[in-house]
Amino acid sequence: MFFEQLNTGHHKTYLVGDEESREAMIIDPLVESYEIARNRLHALGLRITMTVDTHTHADHISGGPAFAASFRCEFIMHELARAKCVDRHITNGDILTLGEMPIDVIHTPGHAADGITLIVESRLMCGDVLFIGGAGRSDLPGGDPDEHWHTLHRTFQSFPDSTLFFPSHDYNGRDFSSLGHERRNNPHFEHKDRYSYVRWQQDRQASTPPWVNKVIDANFLCQALPVEDRAEDGKDACHAWGCAPYLTEGDKLPKEVGVINLHERIERGKNPILMLDVREEDEFRGHLGHIDGAYHVPLDEMEERMDELIAFKHSEIITICRSGGRSLTAAAKLNSDAFEDVKSLRGGMIAWNSRGYRIDK
Ligand SMILES: [Fe+2]
Repeated sequence: MFFEQLNTGHHKTYLVGDEESREAMIIDPLVESYEIARNRLHALGLRITMTVDTHTHADHISGGPAFAASFRCEFIMHELARAKCVDRHITNGDILTLGEMPIDVIHTPGHAADGITLIVESRLMCGDVLFIGGAGRSDLPGGDPDEHWHTLHRTFQSFPDSTLFFPSHDYNGRDFSSLGHERRNNPHFEHKDRYSYVRWQQDRQASTPPWVNKVIDANFLCQALPVEDRAEDGKDACHAWGCAPYLTEGDKLPKEVGVINLHERIERGKNPILMLDVREEDEFRGHLGHIDGAYHVPLDEMEERMDELIAFKHSEIITICRSGGRSLTAAAKLNSDAFEDVKSLRGGMIAWNSRGYRIDK
C-alpha cells in the first residue's frame, strides 16, 4: 500500500494507493495541493480513481471538485453532504475499493453531520472529528456535541488503544496519534457521560467568524471563494477564531487550580492574585455569583481590552468561568500573549458554589 500525507502546512491531504492495481484515492485535498498530488501520482505510477472529503469543510474551500474534474475521477462524500457536485454518496458500512483493497466507511458525525472516517488497513482517516490533543469544533453549522460524544465514546470504542488515527489538521507538526494516547491525554475523552460532555462543549463555544457560512455555501455550490472573503493571511478557521491554543495543544493545556486551593489562598490573604472572571455580564451577576474581588472581562472582550490586562502581565492570574471551559480558553489566550503566570479555575463557579464558599452578586 502507498500511504502519504501531501501537504507541508497544518491541513493534511492524504494519498492512498494500491500496489497491485495502481489505483489511488486522495482524501481531503486542498486546491493548492494539486501540483504536489499530480507529481506524486506520476512518480509512484498511480492512477487516481476517487477523491473523498471526510466532511463539508467550514474552514477552507474543498479541493475535491477541482481534483475530480482534473483527474477525471469520482468525488465522494457522505450521503448527508449537500455539495451539488458529489458524484457518489456513501454511508455507514459502505466499502470503497482500490483494486481489491477494501476501505471501510463509518459515519462519524459531531464536528459535521456528514462526517465520515475511512479505515485504511486499520488506520482511521477521521477528518476533524478527532485531533491530536483536541478535536474540531462541534458548534459550527452541522456540528452537534451530543453526536460528537457518541462518535468519540461509542463509535470509536470498538477500536483498540493501539489504533492509529490520522487527522485532517495538526498545528504542531505531528502526523498521527493512537486512540489509546488520546483516551489518556485528550480532554475530549475526559467526559465519560454524554451530558457533562455537552455542557463542557457549550461552555467553551467561541464566536463564529462571518466567513464560515460563505465557505460552507461555496463548498455546497462547489465554487471558489474570492480571496478577500478568506480568513486573514490565509490562516484557517481555528486560527481566526483564536481558539487554536486550546483546541490543538492538548498536551500543553493551561495549568489549572482547584477551588479548595484558591479558597485557602484567598483566606490566607497572601500573594495577591488577579481573579479574572470571563463570563458574560448576566452570569457574573447571576445565581452563581462571583468571587469577591473578581475582575470581570468577558471572553469576547479580552482582545479589545488587552490594554487593561497588560498591566497584570507579570502577576499571577486565575481565570474563572461557569464550569472551567471558557476559562481554559482565556488562559490559553493570555499564555499565547506571553503573560507569565496564568491558571484556570477547574470546575469554575459551579465547583465554587458546590463547596458553599461565599459569593458576591
Ligand atoms: Fe472541518
